[in-house]
Amino acid sequence: MSLGNDGVRRVEIERSVAEKVIGGQADRRKFFGSATVAALSGAAWAKFAYGQAGDEPELPPTPIPVRPFQTVLPVPPVLQPLTSRNGQAPFVPGSAFHGIAPEFADVAKYSQFPLKYYTVDMRPSRHEFIPGVKTPVWTYNGIVPGPTIKARIGEPIVVRFRNRLSVETSVHLHGGHSPSHADGFPTYFIEPGKDRDYFYPNTVPMHNGHLDYSESISTAWYHDHAMDIAGPNVFFGLSGLYLCTDRIEENLIASNVLPRLDVPLVLCDRRFNADGTFYYDMLDHDGAIGDIFLVNGKVQPKFQVQRRKYRFRILNGSNARYYDLRFSDGREFLQVGNDSWLLPFAMPRESMMLSPAKRADIIVDFSDAPSVVYLNNWMAQSSGRKPDGTALTPTPLMKFEVVGNRVRNDAKVEKGTPIRPHVPILASEIQTTRVFDFGRSNGSWVINNQLYEPTRMDASPKLNTAERWIFNNNSGGWWHPIHVHLESYQVQSINGQAPPLWESFKSDTVNLEGGTSAEIFMKFRTFKGPFAFHCHNVEHEDLRMMMNFNVVE
Ligand code: C2O
Ligand code: CU
Repeated sequence: MSLGNDGVRRVEIERSVAEKVIGGQADRRKFFGSATVAALSGAAWAKFAYGQAGDEPELPPTPIPVRPFQTVLPVPPVLQPLTSRNGQAPFVPGSAFHGIAPEFADVAKYSQFPLKYYTVDMRPSRHEFIPGVKTPVWTYNGIVPGPTIKARIGEPIVVRFRNRLSVETSVHLHGGHSPSHADGFPTYFIEPGKDRDYFYPNTVPMHNGHLDYSESISTAWYHDHAMDIAGPNVFFGLSGLYLCTDRIEENLIASNVLPRLDVPLVLCDRRFNADGTFYYDMLDHDGAIGDIFLVNGKVQPKFQVQRRKYRFRILNGSNARYYDLRFSDGREFLQVGNDSWLLPFAMPRESMMLSPAKRADIIVDFSDAPSVVYLNNWMAQSSGRKPDGTALTPTPLMKFEVVGNRVRNDAKVEKGTPIRPHVPILASEIQTTRVFDFGRSNGSWVINNQLYEPTRMDASPKLNTAERWIFNNNSGGWWHPIHVHLESYQVQSINGQAPPLWESFKSDTVNLEGGTSAEIFMKFRTFKGPFAFHCHNVEHEDLRMMMNFNVVE
């Protein structure tokens, strides 16, 4: 087995770098680094994790008064490519410190287009989530959420991520179809002070000898994935959207089927200390739950809309919180995309449960709306264990102020409008079945009773084959949203029942409620491993509810 690029070496570096990292990060890495985990007996581990048995302290409420609907919803700026000078590339692929990327050699096969080059600096900054309160954050290019990367299928890009933070990072393009070196493998670190070039081919896999445009991604996101510390890295600000189009989607917009008005809504919850800093407990690995609700980095913002259809790309960017989204007037909306992929046709919804990391691409028609509509969250949740259930009263996440007269010649999408053709994975294609049990052992998070180990490959699917994976959550008390890197997967059943319609096509994250099992079909195409799969409650992921698969020839 080969780790491809630099997996083994990184793991060695990890230990030495961990010693130098300052603050709570180092403490956490010392507690939970792989050597320590292996050395702790089960009982000692449980004590680290939970203190005294049954002692789960109440989380301190954010002591800063917050007035909702004061701030206008910001939209993260689109990242601009570097301009080439005299036809020269702004930097040479592979010239970064971590200049690996064997796939660079194959760039020509991905596209007839020239590469576009971008740089993103990961650096500390301050951000006003709450008006007048400056919170220290870790950012992509100084802003939270990070800049939106816009890409096209068939047009590869290179992003040089420069780590100017004091912690290691690794950037995952969630819901993308990327080579291993650019996938944010948990130990392919960018060390503090160093850079790494991520090559995103923006390609689709092959199906029967043709490019499979059913797999073109649309709403993806990038976020930190460094082993053991993705939780704090994401919580402190390291996430942003990656929106990709292809001709099918562009035609839907050009022909006025999908609205041109296309607004991302990144939902997050955070908890603050009195001085405006984030409250984040390094030793709480149930999952970080906030009591302040943010959309695009602002507490409960307001947004003016015209009487027409809007497209909203909703991302649950929270570490551990689930949402049950509904509009305050009960209005129906259309779902046109689930996770990264557009659906085969537009589906009517009235409410929508989103587990951490899930995306929903929806169309809302405000033409007949009252002058004020709220986007409400009806899901109550007080710990990372699982949601408490439906709230007695909802929390308005944001306010829409509807103005003007009904707009003419509005976008044509309605219930059942065809969006993107779907290619099902057939049962007859399945060559291997694997079973993964998501559970707890001695107070830590395990899959098949094992803690994550970056150098251990837990499955080795063959390139260009399809497999059936069964995800079991045998614990009653905990929920786990399960994400697999590299490809979309197709949920076949949940507890033996057909999944809901919008989840029966392509997904990259499926929620396992307590006592639930899910069956998925997945094909492994284009790129060899290693890649990770894990629970996307990011604290569960950090505390080792993760495994690797290595795609082999
Ligand atoms: Cu969004 Cu492996 O994570
Ligand atoms: Cu979990």
